[in-house]
Amino acid sequence: MSTQLVNFAAAFAPLTDADRLARMQEIRDLARQQNAIILAHNYQIPEVQDIADFVGDSLGLSLEAQKTAAETIIFCGVHFMAESAKVLNPEKRVLLPNLSAGCSLADSITPESLEEWQRRYPDHAVVTYVNSTAEVKALSDICCTSANAVSIVRSLPNDKILFTPDRNLGNWVKKQVPEKEVVVYDGACPIHDVLRGANVEKTRSAFPDSVVIAHPECREDILAIADEICSTTAMLGRVAKYPDVKTFIVATENGIIHQMKKRYPDKEFVVADGCIGCRLNCPYMKMITPWDIKRSLLEGVFEVEVEGDVMAGARRALERMLAVPRDN
Ligand code: 13P
Repeated sequence: MSTQLVNFAAAFAPLTDADRLARMQEIRDLARQQNAIILAHNYQIPEVQDIADFVGDSLGLSLEAQKTAAETIIFCGVHFMAESAKVLNPEKRVLLPNLSAGCSLADSITPESLEEWQRRYPDHAVVTYVNSTAEVKALSDICCTSANAVSIVRSLPNDKILFTPDRNLGNWVKKQVPEKEVVVYDGACPIHDVLRGANVEKTRSAFPDSVVIAHPECREDILAIADEICSTTAMLGRVAKYPDVKTFIVATENGIIHQMKKRYPDKEFVVADGCIGCRLNCPYMKMITPWDIKRSLLEGVFEVEVEGDVMAGARRALERMLAVPRDN
């Protein structure tokens, strides 16, 4: 074989486990040298989760970002999450390793569309899910995540609430807090929203003794048949409630399965869509690779910036949220 062909073959040879571990360690060492912390959401690809210093749900990541002493935060998630980390840490450098990592749910509300709803419901306090831009957060009274939405709505002195932008989460909260008037904005996460109760029933029929765990961004027909409804990190804890159950049907983005298998190697986790997680796969959450993290550390890209008034408004809404304890 020519030298050129040998080099080509070597470049495309699958990595051995030892190579993979060495590459991950190299990235972690680079982060230590630069006083950087790597945060990753539960939906990231397994390699990124395994490199990270901390893996969690939206609320856990915000809390971690708030308390870190590192000078740089490498945020492996989607743009609104990195933006929240910046808002909570204006003096720190926050890097999003791949700028294309957006969020369709966050895109479903703009400052203009929120203002239009506020004109229709002028007496309502605005509770905005963190899956939103800093501009939208800045127009809101308080933020919430899937781990504290019910507590946040209950904690407010207001009886009238405008919940934005996720209608499935909003309608679920509305049921938990019937004493308040909750008006729900019309946005949704297309990954969760594509799933139907019939898909979950069909998947469950193959595993009759299984437990269904669903994220509250799922539609009402799924939440009605779910045994547990909670944020991604809380899902990990819920598994422990069922020591005699072998199989769990998981109705959320498939990235969480990695943490579930790591924590419970003897259990079986099945993605609820019945097609090996192909529908419950968020392309934005899968954009960051270990290579992107390395480039981020070496080149200082891509720095997340938030402007003055927006920064102050979004910070107020996020800090009010962080003062309320999580509900799941
Ligand atoms: P968590 O609050 O569980 O992190 O969920 C975030 C999210 O974006 C769900 O689609």
